[in-house]
Amino acid sequence: MASRSPVIAPSILSADFARLGEEVRAIDEAGADWIHVDVMDGHFVPNLTIGAPVVKALRPITARPLDCHLMIEQPERYVGDFAAAGADIITVHVEACPHLHRNLQQIRALPHHGGDRVQAGVSLNPHTPITSMLTVLPLCDLVLVMSVNPGFGGQAFIPQVRDKIRALRAAIDAQGLTVRIQVDGGVDDRNVAELSQDGADTYVAGSGVFRNPRHEGYAAAIAAIRDRAQPAAASS
Ligand code: DX5
Ligand code: ZN
Repeated sequence: MASRSPVIAPSILSADFARLGEEVRAIDEAGADWIHVDVMDGHFVPNLTIGAPVVKALRPITARPLDCHLMIEQPERYVGDFAAAGADIITVHVEACPHLHRNLQQIRALPHHGGDRVQAGVSLNPHTPITSMLTVLPLCDLVLVMSVNPGFGGQAFIPQVRDKIRALRAAIDAQGLTVRIQVDGGVDDRNVAELSQDGADTYVAGSGVFRNPRHEGYAAAIAAIRDRAQPAAASS
């Protein structure tokens, strides 16, 4: 049986924004698989962060996939800008998308800077059931399960989302798909083993990488997460 290698995606929300280019270069060299970019609009979530111009500025800094998590309303107005800026993965929230199927079709049809295809993700807030998006699973490259309420880094992991991860993995396998399950919020080397057992395979960590007092340097923090993440069995 094939296996999906764990993907570690440090969130630059916890980086030093005054030195953002250096920070991205540092996590790239420290072994990050993807660079997670948290985009917030002050409407869907109570915080404002960064937009497509910052993605464009980061594109020449790293060859790693730029994983753009859009915590914004009406994402259809902006996904083209993010793809043009160099995004590789664009994730939208089910709660912000009354026309989710159309949004995913739109993302998958966008021109990709590398000549490939922009990957599409759907994110679920902690209270949102997986039944809200199971019908669009075949259009998803990943499902992002929020394990904190979105808007801020450094919050405590909500353990109740583990049931959703297990149910989602069962649904993905039942459909014979190879959709990644990404967990975002309060993830670090202390909970990643149980999350991988639940069926997750992709881990966002902001404070767990950039502000981890238990590890000296980004490479050690990323390695500690990777060491505890079991490769998940794939259905195909
Ligand atoms: C929260 C963001 C997360 C956040 C994770 O709204 O989507 O990506 O930065 O930060 P930590 O790992 O500190 O919980
Ligand atoms: Zn995020």
